[in-house]
Amino acid sequence: MKYIPKILTSTIKNNVIKFQNVILFTIFLILLIIPNIQTNFSVLSRTDNFGYRKFSHSIFPYKTPIFAPIKFSMKDLMGRAIWDYFQNENTEDLQTETSISELDELPVKYLFRDFEEMNAIEQKALKLSKGKVLDIGAGAGSHSLYLQNEKNLEVTALDISPKSIEVCQLRGINKAVAQNMLEFSGETFDTILLLMNGTGIFQSLQVIDIYLKKLHSLLNKNGQILIDGTDILYMFDADEDGGILIPAGGYYGELDYVVHYKDESEDPIKWLYLDFNTLKNAVENNGFKIEKVMQEEDSYLAKLTKK
Ligand SMILES: C[S@@+](CC[C@H](N)C(=O)[O-])C[C@H]1O[C@@H](n2cnc3c(N)ncnc32)[C@H](O)[C@@H]1O
Repeated sequence: MKYIPKILTSTIKNNVIKFQNVILFTIFLILLIIPNIQTNFSVLSRTDNFGYRKFSHSIFPYKTPIFAPIKFSMKDLMGRAIWDYFQNENTEDLQTETSISELDELPVKYLFRDFEEMNAIEQKALKLSKGKVLDIGAGAGSHSLYLQNEKNLEVTALDISPKSIEVCQLRGINKAVAQNMLEFSGETFDTILLLMNGTGIFQSLQVIDIYLKKLHSLLNKNGQILIDGTDILYMFDADEDGGILIPAGGYYGELDYVVHYKDESEDPIKWLYLDFNTLKNAVENNGFKIEKVMQEEDSYLAKLTKK
């Protein structure tokens, strides 16, 4: 029998134990870090709408508390413009540009429009609103204010912009919540409004299902979602044969959108313009029925109900 010195076996054992520890420690590190990686694993890791906050939906079901409190900064330029206008401090309008259009003015006053100044689609949506209402992306709260004060409905104004929500509160909206719609929960509604190209909030077709599932969970059994949208095909040039030249590799309504205010610029965000049929396909895949309530040139109002 071969003699193995004791000192040697104990060294081998120690090394095995050390190696096991390294493996265990590496596994621990991987488990700690992976849920917080916000790149390829995350479907929503891009800048959120209007650049207010970046957030992540990891493919993993939990987040380690050590990383969870990390929040990204935001400028909230639209909210600041709304605030300045409300405090009579505003001398400048917002400017917007998209990946397919040049700089354009968005008068802040427009966000404070009353019923008479609203377009026919918005007026129709307000007329159809009933029961307990959630106004998603409420902005300065013009739609909420009308429903609360003129139709005596119970309204919640929800917006990701803290400054806009402060203005909603100062304008007298009883319930105004500063939160990303994807994080809002705990209540259900009879009417959910998404107005002023409401489909934009969905960001892109890649992540639209996440928004639609959230909307489904916030809607009462016999409730309705009233959402407006625009087919922006008209913005693309036609070639000499009459064919329309649209960008390859994606849906033509997925735009990058930038807001400028007083020499500052927000990070580009994703904003989704949807034609009615594309919206129809997406909602029908997520447990909704859809009806086109009205059409005005390239824009429409759609009503979604649960299947
Ligand atoms: C085009 S504005 C419309 C404002 C208002 N509905 C109106 O018609 O005057 C879109 C609003 O949606 C908000 N928004 C964007 N993404 C959001 C999200 N994920 N959750 C809540 N609000 C969001 C923006 O902050 C912005 O105020």
